[in-house]
Amino acid sequence: MSFGNMPIANRFVTEHEFEGEYFFELAPAFCAECGTLQLVEQPDPAEMFHDQYAFFSRTSASMQVHFAGYADWVMQHYLGQEPFVVELGSNDGIMLENFARAGVRHLGVEPSENVAKVAREYGVNTLCSFFTPDAATAIRGEHGAANAIIAANVMCHIPDLNAIGEAADILLKPDGVLIFEDPYLGSMIEKNSYDQLYDEHVYIFSLRSVQSIFGRQGFEVVDVLEQGTHGGSMRYVLARAGSRACSDTVGRLRAQESRLGLDNPATYDRFRENCESNRAALVSLLRELKTTGARIVGYAATSKSTTVLNYCGIDSSLIEYISDTTPIKQGRYTPGTHIPVRPHADFVEYYPDYAVLFAWNHAKEIMSKETAYADAGGKWITFVPKVEIKQA
Ligand code: TYD
Repeated sequence: MSFGNMPIANRFVTEHEFEGEYFFELAPAFCAECGTLQLVEQPDPAEMFHDQYAFFSRTSASMQVHFAGYADWVMQHYLGQEPFVVELGSNDGIMLENFARAGVRHLGVEPSENVAKVAREYGVNTLCSFFTPDAATAIRGEHGAANAIIAANVMCHIPDLNAIGEAADILLKPDGVLIFEDPYLGSMIEKNSYDQLYDEHVYIFSLRSVQSIFGRQGFEVVDVLEQGTHGGSMRYVLARAGSRACSDTVGRLRAQESRLGLDNPATYDRFRENCESNRAALVSLLRELKTTGARIVGYAATSKSTTVLNYCGIDSSLIEYISDTTPIKQGRYTPGTHIPVRPHADFVEYYPDYAVLFAWNHAKEIMSKETAYADAGGKWITFVPKVEIKQA
């Protein structure tokens, strides 16, 4: 299936950059043999992760709480004597700072220098690099083998997972674990949240696909834990085959995936049809509201919004601007559709009639802090799982 030409989701542009933006075809494909949903065309990682990377994990209060919980759980279950923990794609250090505070030896491996710099300011040891077999050899030489390699919303960004399996095998202790969580294919299909598909999300994993990809490298999934983050995620715990006992939850989730139809190619045909109907409903609602003279803005210039805006062909004729709290995005324009991104203060100063909630996964956090907007009569437009107007 194709969602058409897409720009890089996190490349918020200046007016000078309107010409010559990088586009690629966003075309996910399902492999019935291994159960993997992946992008056919994968943009060069260097186009996505660099010293201007616009996603800072600390922008959400609820994610700070989530990562503190994730770190505590790892410390409780997976750290033996003299532990050493390595995080892949450690961003601004939101998770590792919890290990740093607990005095656990740690290292973040993060390819974008601007976010790595912030992590160091929080006392997080960070190496600016992609995680490759060579990097793993160098880290092991300098710091010793790791008890745990952890990641969140990172593994699905990495095109060459064979190299990750190889690198993990180099770096981990014999009973070491590789733990990661990412948006879950089952949730995307259930909620029709097609905006999970963008350049950075090369894969949308299911348990079956993780078993198949990492099984080739000698790893097996020994536990799975459902997460509410990013609109429905799954945490996978992997160990070298036979090195650890396997939880019953793994078999239960596989059975549930079959019941949901995740193994069946017809599910993805239905998903594509649902995306088309969702697009038609969103565009016609925005057009209709515009004809009544309503002011409509976007709330949160998320990566996900790049897919929605470009797939639906929504530009500043329908959405006046998008409010976002990330300084690097403010004053710039959305990739491909060139809607201005403005600071949250602009939203508060002059409330619109409608706000399209692009960070729908943070709806609870956002609606609970925007009660003054709702009290002033402001309404939310959401599009996951279906297009509707909500008065919080
Ligand atoms: P997230 O859903 O993590 O984005 P992505 O789709 O890129 O994974 O949301 C983070 C973005 O949303 C970030 O640009 C900041 C913005 N945001 C706000 O502007 N206000 C808020 O209250 C929250 C929670 C996020």
